[in-house]
Amino acid sequence: MKNLFEFTEAFFQPISIDEKLALTHQAWHTHISGGLSFTSDRPVLPIDRVTFPARPELLAPRQMPRRKLTTTAGVAAFFHAIAHVEFVAIYLAWDILYRFRGMPDQFYQDWLRVADEEAQHFELIRMHLRAIEIEYGDLPAHSGLWDHAKDTADDLLGRLAMVPRCMEARGLDVTPALIEKFRILGDDASVAILTRILTDEVRHVERGSYWFKFVCQQRGFEAEAKYCELIDQYYIGGKPKGPFNRELRKIAGFSDAEIDWLES
Ligand SMILES: [Fe+2]
Ligand SMILES: [Fe+2]
Repeated sequence: MKNLFEFTEAFFQPISIDEKLALTHQAWHTHISGGLSFTSDRPVLPIDRVTFPARPELLAPRQMPRRKLTTTAGVAAFFHAIAHVEFVAIYLAWDILYRFRGMPDQFYQDWLRVADEEAQHFELIRMHLRAIEIEYGDLPAHSGLWDHAKDTADDLLGRLAMVPRCMEARGLDVTPALIEKFRILGDDASVAILTRILTDEVRHVERGSYWFKFVCQQRGFEAEAKYCELIDQYYIGGKPKGPFNRELRKIAGFSDAEIDWLES
């Protein structure tokens, strides 16, 4: 029997990107075949023990070059940025299941599946980048994504509000328009990849909503009010800017009241 949390600690070690991907798929397949234990008897390592590859170089968002999808360099920079989002998303899925113990087994299974899907997303984008002779790490990337994990390392509700129900939910808002842009450009490969990712991401956000409401109920909080309070607390600059995709967000477990509050 292999242990989920031992897999996580191995993932967080300074191993290669390919080893991280292989470990993630291996953990999911071990679970599928019934060989994974969720027993937690070891202490949780602090979040500053999590290591990232030496490349890409990480820059503050305002230092990132602007990109236009009408040029080859712009498309390359765009997909490199998406590769980075997916790469950090693998870490975020591993980290939420690692750091917050004492939840039902389903919680760990849900986020392990998310980790496996994020690894697939990363591989799809990396293949796409390789077709235009770019490797993940060749360009700089955005340093901000992991900050949300560090900010909420001790706060499960804060993590659920900020990661699946804020960052990943932004993907639901912006991806349909991006797919449309690539469709107009006649770039069918990009349309196919982004469509596949969007389908999975609706489910990731939905799992975030489900567990957010579950923990709120457990702790006696009113979920909608708690959501607004946590975004106020953790989101730098107030709250995310729209437009918001109400239809997809509702499928992903947002209430109209939450979306109204975001829009207000
Ligand atoms: Fe993803
Ligand atoms: Fe995701």
